[in-house]
Amino acid sequence: MIGRLNHVAIAVPDVEAAAAVYRDSLGATVSAPVALGEHGVTVVFVDMPNSKIELMEPLGADSPIAAFLERNPAGGVHHVCFEVADLGAAVERLRSTGARIIGRGEPKIGAHGKPVVFLHPKYFLGTLVELEEA
Ligand code: CO
Repeated sequence: MIGRLNHVAIAVPDVEAAAAVYRDSLGATVSAPVALGEHGVTVVFVDMPNSKIELMEPLGADSPIAAFLERNPAGGVHHVCFEVADLGAAVERLRSTGARIIGRGEPKIGAHGKPVVFLHPKYFLGTLVELEEA
């Protein structure tokens, strides 16, 4: 069921400064910042041959990553995203194994315009997991 690692998302206090670290110290190709108002984050995409890193800075008062950054002021890994071919089938399987899905398990449109669900870090070994229908 689980497919490719789509991205690792890292919450940071300053996305431009974070992008400069990846660009200058690691030689990475980084995008310009993209404001995703609906999702409460400004994102820089770091292109890698086999996946992506998404650097996310809070945007607006109700940013979903604000509390995370309060706990991790220097930034930190926020979630990992795996691709699945069929999100409905994935949710069914997760439910059947007792996995915890955040919310009701109804897919929402994620930051890339594709359906996603988030899986609870208490069940997934301390890691917030995003599943995206590829
Ligand atoms: Co994500």
